Order: sequence, then C-alpha cells, then structure tokens
Amino acid sequence: MNPLNHVAIIMDGNGRWGLKKRNNRNYGHTQGLKTLEKIVNHSIEKKIQYLTLFAFSTENWKRPNSEINFLFSLLNKFLKKKIKYLHNKHIKLKFIGSRKKLNSSIISNISNAEKLTKKNNQIQVNIALNYGSRDEILESFKKIKKNGLNLTKSNLENNLYTKKIPDPDILIRTGNTHRLSNFMLWQIAYTEIFFVEKLWPDFNIRDFDKIINNFKKINRRFGAINEE
Ligand code: IPE
Ligand code: IPE
Ligand code: MG
Repeated sequence: MNPLNHVAIIMDGNGRWGLKKRNNRNYGHTQGLKTLEKIVNHSIEKKIQYLTLFAFSTENWKRPNSEINFLFSLLNKFLKKKIKYLHNKHIKLKFIGSRKKLNSSIISNISNAEKLTKKNNQIQVNIALNYGSRDEILESFKKIKKNGLNLTKSNLENNLYTKKIPDPDILIRTGNTHRLSNFMLWQIAYTEIFFVEKLWPDFNIRDFDKIINNFKKINRRFGAINEE
C-alpha cells in the first residue's frame, strides 16, 4: 500500500458546468467552491497532509474581466466568511503563485489568512493563485543566480513556491481535459495522474475515494524494478 501525503488537483470544468445549468459560467465557480470545501474536509478525514488546489493560473488573465473579478471576489468573500472556521479546524493555508498582479485587498486577505493559520498542523492547503509553473521555475533560476548559489537540484527546489513541501503523490484533473496547463511541471515528475471526466462541481468524495484506493495499489517503481 502506497503512503499518501500530498494530493494536487486541477479543479477544471466550472465554467462548462455553470453554462449547462444556468447559462452562467460564474454559477459554476460558486458551486466549484462548495466541492472544494467538501474535498478539504474529506482530505482531513483521510489524514492527507498536503492538498494543493489550482485556483487561478497565470494564463487565466486572458479571460473577460467580469469573470476574473467574480473569481477574486468569491475568494475574498470566502476568506472573510470562513477563515475562523478553517483556523478552528487547524487547517494551515498557503497561497502559491506570484502576488505581483494581485490587488491590494486580495494580497492583504491572503497574507492575513496565512499568518493566522501558520502554526496549524491538521492539513496544509496550498491554493495556487496566479500560479504558473514555468514562471516558478524561471524565478527559481533567477534567485539562484542573484544569490550566487550553485545550480543544484536542492537549490532549485528550495526556491520554488513549494519549498519544503513533498512532491504530490496524486494529481487529479477533472473536466475531461488531458493536459497540465502549466501546473507543477517540476514537482509531478513521478506523480500518479488521474484524469476525471466529471466537471469539478460534480466531483464528490466517492470519486475521490476511488482514486485514493486505486492509487494505493499502484506499483510505483521510480525507475527501479519492483516485483509485484
Ligand atoms: C476551472 O474551471 C476554474 C478556473 C480556471 C478558475 P474553468 O473556469 O476553467 O471551467 P471550464 O474548463 O471553462 O469549464
Ligand atoms: C487550468 O484550467 C487552471 C485552473 C484550473 C485554475 P484552464 O481551464 O485554465 O486550462 P486550459 O485553458 O483548459 O488549458
Ligand atoms: Mg477550464
């Protein structure tokens, strides 16, 4: 049975779900947030230590302003309403990605959420916000160069947003789309990848459990030869 420490999820399909149900993409984002809460709670029950959720990519700025504004205001409202509850459940929140393009109210809300929950140890939930893996890797190279460090694997990893976080064991992408969309390209070298047909708002804990059970049985070889 494989140990499971870290699950990463590309929560895709909100827009299509909202269009189908109410002809409104943003409705899908609202429902997607509900799925996210259920998956966080279930991850705690499953004793998963790290959950990394792709919420907004560096490429998502190409979307209409109305959708971008909706997504950030959804996050702001969620943090305002739920941060105490998350803290009481001993959840540690961390935001990974560049803060450069984020507005000041988002920056202060996410920094406050991180500060408040910093010492919690039930689960660490990483929200990838304005996250792009290529930028992350490039920035790491730049920091290494600036600090006159040697170009080693450990220096590279210590300058990623995921510093000190183990690589994901499982990557899930919902929404019937089979690509990585610039998510954790370095970190998923040996991650087990599960593509799910369902759109994110329809994804549920039974689907999650099925993936976890399948993962546990996989023969993870990491390049070696493991007799089963
Ligand atoms: C994923 O759902 C959530 C975000 C990118 C914020 P999408 O909004 O990409 O939904 P689809 O893929 O268009 O259905
Ligand atoms: C990836 O989904 C980003 C998030 C889930 C936040 P996209 O919907 O942006 O990816 P593409 O455009 O289909 O590759
Ligand atoms: Mg999408």
